[in-house]
This record gives sequence, structure tokens and C-alpha cells, in this order.
Amino acid sequence: MEKGVFITFEGIDGCGKTTMQGLCGQLLESRGKRVLLTKEPGDSDFGRSFRQMLLHTQMGEMNDATEVLLYAADRARHVDKVIRPALAQGMVVLCDRYLDSTIAYQGGGRGVEMDLLWRINDFATGGLSPDLTFYLRLDVEQMASRLSAGKDRLEKEAPRFFARVARAYEDLAARFPHRFVTVDANRPPEEVFSQIERKITEFFSWS
Ligand code: TMP
Repeated sequence: MEKGVFITFEGIDGCGKTTMQGLCGQLLESRGKRVLLTKEPGDSDFGRSFRQMLLHTQMGEMNDATEVLLYAADRARHVDKVIRPALAQGMVVLCDRYLDSTIAYQGGGRGVEMDLLWRINDFATGGLSPDLTFYLRLDVEQMASRLSAGKDRLEKEAPRFFARVARAYEDLAARFPHRFVTVDANRPPEEVFSQIERKITEFFSWS
């Protein structure tokens, strides 16, 4: 069975990962790759309800266990029904957020024990790790100007929450240098994408 490639996009809210995911998809398709664009939370058959539960501000306070387990349940379904089947068909899967978001937001941001998060998520994903992760590093001060007025439940957190999230991403990048590629997301989008394009070209050994 042909094995696909699993690429994730990570960073604090407003870092531009969704735009970069789209551009990356166009680049790969122009080179003849079959591409699947997907996202967490929410991109599985019942994922839309998860997304509603997780991000809707009307939900009010949610304790850490509820939040961690909802993200993990969404991920388990997403891996099982969307990501693994696409990889099995040899597709390039471009995923906007994945497990590293849980480590950064619930671990770094909320302070949930990291080992517990790894164990729960290992169970949820069956150990599926990305081949490549683009971490779009954005200064927390830049974030406010990039977010729209209708902020979701997570986006309403204070800047110091996002500073902790950003620190956790830095730790992940240092711990997993074989798959993490850190990109300066404070730059204009064309420059951000050219950093990504260089890495993709190298990864697929294109000349
Ligand atoms: P989005 O804005 O990229 O669609 O992501 C939705 C929010 O969910 C974002 O604020 C990050 C948060 N999130 C977590 O806190 N943990 C997770 O595991 C995931 C996937 C997202």
C-alpha cells in the first residue's frame, strides 16, 4: 500500500496557518500530488458538533478534563475516518492543527500535565505522528491586530495565556527537530510562504 505524507500547521491564533495550508495545497497539486486539506477541531463527520461545543462562547466555563477529552475524541474520529484513509491512498494530508495544539494550549496554556496529555493522545491517534510540522511563530503582541471581532472561547484568553502557549510550541520545536520547521509568521504572507515552499521542495526532493 502506498504511504502518504502527513503535514501539520501549528501556531497561536492569528498566525496565518490556514492561508499557508491553502497555498501549500496549491503548490503540491501543481506538482501532481493528491492533497487533502483538513483541520482540527471539527473536520470529521461528527466533528462539527465538537467544534461547536469547544469554541462556542455560550458554553461558558469548561473544566480542563472536559476540554482535553473533547479535543482528543474529535482527534480520534478524525484520524480514524479522515486522516488514515487518505494516507493509505497515498495522499498528502495537510492538517490545520493536530496533537501539538493540545500540548501547547491544554499543556502550556492551561497547565494540564504533559505526560497525561501525551498518553491520552497516543490512545486517540494510535501513535500517528506528522512527518512534517510547520510552526508559524507569531509574536503575541501581533496576535490582537490579526483576530476578528467575533472571538471564540479560546481566542478570548489573556495575552499571558498565549505567551505560555507560544513557549510550549518553542519547547516542542526543540524536542522534535526532525519534524518541526519554525517559520517567522511576523513577515508578510509571501515571505512566510517562500520559507514553507523551500522546505517542501527539499522534503520532496524537487529540483
Ligand atoms: P482554529 O482557530 O485554528 O480553528 O482553532 C480553534 C481553537 O482551538 C484555537 O484557539 C486552538 C484551540 N485548540 C486547542 O486548544 N487544543 C487543540 O487540541 C486544538 C486542535 C485546538
